[in-house]
Amino acid sequence: MGNPSQANRDGRPGEPAGARVGPGGSVGGVSRFYVTTPIYYVNAEPHLGHAYTTIVGDALTRWHRLMGDDVKFLTGTDEHGLKIQQAAEAAGTTPQAFTDEIAPKFRAAWERLNIAHDDFIRTTEPRHRTAVVELLQRCYDAGDIELDTYSGWYCVGCEAYYTDDELIEVDGVGNHCPIHRRPVEHFEEENYFFRLSRFEDRLLDWYAAHPDAIKPSHRANEALGLIKSGLRDFSVSRTTVDWGIHLPWDDRHVAYVWFDALTNYLSAVGFGDDTQDYTEWWPVDYHLIGKDIIRFHCVYWPAMLMSAGVEPPKGYGVGGWLLVGGEKMSKSGGNAVNPLDLVDDIGVDGFRYYVLAETPYGSDGDFTYDGLVARYNADLANNLGNLAARVATVVAKKCDGVGPAPRPDSPLAEAAASAVAGTTAAWDDVAPSKALDATWSLIRATNSHLEANEPWKADPGPEVDAVMGDALEALRIVSILAYPAVPETSQTIWERIGLDGDVVDQRVPDAVAWGGYPGGVPVVKGDPLFPRIKA
Ligand code: ME8
Ligand code: MG
Repeated sequence: MGNPSQANRDGRPGEPAGARVGPGGSVGGVSRFYVTTPIYYVNAEPHLGHAYTTIVGDALTRWHRLMGDDVKFLTGTDEHGLKIQQAAEAAGTTPQAFTDEIAPKFRAAWERLNIAHDDFIRTTEPRHRTAVVELLQRCYDAGDIELDTYSGWYCVGCEAYYTDDELIEVDGVGNHCPIHRRPVEHFEEENYFFRLSRFEDRLLDWYAAHPDAIKPSHRANEALGLIKSGLRDFSVSRTTVDWGIHLPWDDRHVAYVWFDALTNYLSAVGFGDDTQDYTEWWPVDYHLIGKDIIRFHCVYWPAMLMSAGVEPPKGYGVGGWLLVGGEKMSKSGGNAVNPLDLVDDIGVDGFRYYVLAETPYGSDGDFTYDGLVARYNADLANNLGNLAARVATVVAKKCDGVGPAPRPDSPLAEAAASAVAGTTAAWDDVAPSKALDATWSLIRATNSHLEANEPWKADPGPEVDAVMGDALEALRIVSILAYPAVPETSQTIWERIGLDGDVVDQRVPDAVAWGGYPGGVPVVKGDPLFPRIKA
């Protein structure tokens, strides 16, 4: 059964009853939803860029849990290859000891960020080796892997091969990696090659039949551009690297780390294991990736799968880079921001909200501390936090601390319905910033509703009760809609407005229909949810 994570489980409600489903399908209305993050290289400690993709995955899967889907959210670590081997050497230790030390730091970071992954895979696990050997053998048996000689460039940072025309000049010196801006290495060696060039038409046909597979669409154009500009066979083995998985038919060769790494998505669902049926989860719904690894995921990977007789992924969500001072944040660039430091300042939910709301998914974003504080103060302290506080204050003063019921024909009902529709459509589109904007539209409408009615100035009575019942119902709906981004805050609001149970167990869309707030329950104020931060 793999190696389920010990991380925070609060995002995962119990297994839905009768959740066994046929291949790729849905039974009894429960659909399966499988989402992955990249598996991160353990040469670096987790940084904001890693946290970004992982939080997007967590929020997306939390939304689908609310929809009642049977969800699997996978993350993990990429532990083989030259880059890790060299990092271990530099640290004066063995690759295995090195990876054993760093992998837990990723687990700990995800726990701190309230990531509710269902599984955490390490490529050094036996279940992964099983899957890689099976996939290699299938491609080899299909005749798509052949022995040849590689002569050319390699960037260890990318673990990728480069042609002359792909390299850039840095400070007047040629032969630098376009991503890492470091010199690439030349090598010539006997390699096995994957005959990617044979897959051009099949890939183009597949994307033509699945035009929405890659989100957002400008990233799809990038992937199609790579395919149309001509596909070159790529090396899938090395004889001069030994930290990895040996080819089942030729022990002198170690599998190329990207062939190895991509396969993790299948390892985690039991590919190659006779006791499991990987098609219960495969094909995956979304691989969430950064734009730096489009070629591997949207070109190499589906071709490898086609060769092996496995269905390609159903979808990809491609994020941009978080830049610091205009440059990609990375360990190698020396400008990595540690997400855990930021959490200390603005809290887990503040941090999660910021990364989800600030940058439209797919575009690059510039991280600044001032931007973080401004976003937090505007949307969390002044909007959501203030709404929750003023509702509780007025209910205490004017309604004896008991929340009144909402009106069925409330002027806020329409704002709520449109927030629900907008939030749902945006999550369907893997667009977290749009989803949160739609959710926050209801917070803004509710604050305006209060300002227009000024219940704090009125005498207690039916009119105040009506206004406050509406505001409480809006807050109840907000706490469900905002849950994917700010799960702890949602649960806190839920309890403060006197509701029973857990937000995680609410089911969209029924639970966000107008009118669910019962009224007659105690409302408490509590500490500020998001104390203002001085810039
Ligand atoms: O590429 N901004 O691992 P990796 C936004 N092991 N996202 C960023 C980022 C930034 N500045 N930096 C990293 C690898 N990311 C391979 C993946 S998958 C089979 C193997 C995120 O540690 C982004 O999602 O370099 C990017 O694709 C991923 O981290 C790469 O992490
Ligand atoms: Mg990288």
